[in-house]
Amino acid sequence: MFTRKDFPEDFLFGTATSSYQIEGHGFGGAGRTHWDDFADTPGNVVRAEHGARACDHYHLYEQDLDLVAAAGFDAYRFSTSWARVLPEGRGPVNTEGLDFYDRLTDAMLERGLKPCATLYHWELPSALADLGGWRNRDVASWFADFTEIIMDRIGDRMWSVAPINEPWCVAWLSHFYGAHAPGLRDIRAAARAMHHVLLAHGRAIEVMRAQGLGNLGGVFNLEWASPASDEPEARHAAAIYDGIYNRWFLGGVFKGAYPQIVLDGLEPHLPQNWQDDFPTITQKLDWCGLNYYTRKRIAPAPGPWPALCEVEGPLPKTAMGWEIYPQGLQDFLIRTAAEYTGDLPLYVTENGMAAPDQMRGGDVHDPDRLSYLAAHLEALRAAQARGVPVKGYFVWSLLDNYEWSFGYEKRFGLVHVDFDTLARTPKASYHAMALALRKDQNR
Ligand code: FCB
Repeated sequence: MFTRKDFPEDFLFGTATSSYQIEGHGFGGAGRTHWDDFADTPGNVVRAEHGARACDHYHLYEQDLDLVAAAGFDAYRFSTSWARVLPEGRGPVNTEGLDFYDRLTDAMLERGLKPCATLYHWELPSALADLGGWRNRDVASWFADFTEIIMDRIGDRMWSVAPINEPWCVAWLSHFYGAHAPGLRDIRAAARAMHHVLLAHGRAIEVMRAQGLGNLGGVFNLEWASPASDEPEARHAAAIYDGIYNRWFLGGVFKGAYPQIVLDGLEPHLPQNWQDDFPTITQKLDWCGLNYYTRKRIAPAPGPWPALCEVEGPLPKTAMGWEIYPQGLQDFLIRTAAEYTGDLPLYVTENGMAAPDQMRGGDVHDPDRLSYLAAHLEALRAAQARGVPVKGYFVWSLLDNYEWSFGYEKRFGLVHVDFDTLARTPKASYHAMALALRKDQNR
């Protein structure tokens, strides 16, 4: 088992959450979001569950932040809901929403926690979805305006800020696979979202630089693509998957170029003059965040581009059915620094696993979660030993929460949430983290 002393003195440990997954979007005057619409559409979400109450973090945030602080975490990665601040996405501000994030920020600081904000973690206001959402180029300006409003209020107290959580999920998962809101399965919509999400990222960075804010970054989810066989066709399919998932976004932001292997399929569907947006997309960043969970084994498949499919792998799996593959984290940290970010600080901004509850008496046992976290921290240290500047690690997640299309069924928390009573019960993994992070004994 790791302790703090295994890591450099300035290494940050944190835990992460997101607004729609925990706050309770029915409270405090928040506007409707495309996740509410998606959940209301039969077949999209397990039991058609939505985030109206979630963990009621909106009212219980002080006790939740007490838990973050008591575990010994240094930082808390949270997100701000666009529709809570601007119920129609633009126009009138919901002051209750701004007040909430103001209180939340001060409550973090009072507990000695570094506030790490993500401005968009997927709850697009429905009014903007009506206008085409991420398919509409104007989304970048709407998002820039939201950025200005929320950061005017809390930006002065943020330790770090990233505009958008996981552009691949915003674009590809939601517009090509249709697995997340708005649930489209349309290559043209997907291509536009793939580009507009990065344009919006860049516009938000520009706005925050103009506001004088620093320590700005981006948060990318990366998934290792292993060819399902040694055949050249399988390698090619895996390279396309890697291109769409990983290299498109890192390439756009850090190199001002999209990988040709993806342009082969998407170029006809990109908006006109897309190349002209790279000066905005490549706004200089201060750090890069990687969210890492798993790998996929990829095989060629019949049909139109990208002509690939996922094949079940042999490794042990989490409750999400995701293979446990810590090597991928090490390889990504090394590859990202070598090919994209150089000396820029890297953070693992999300890592964790869903595991079923094992309640015994009043205790929640989750030994698999602890092994998962320890194995990934080991992989992180291996990358550090190779000289990669990894400066922090955030566990996903503090609380069991609304796991998107899986509803409340998949539990990622260090802290168990009873969704009837909303009682919070720290799990064994929480207690083990608290022990590992203690400063007095471990330094
Ligand atoms: C990430 C998301 C987060 C959560 C975890 C399991 O892709 O950022 O909201 O769903 O996966």
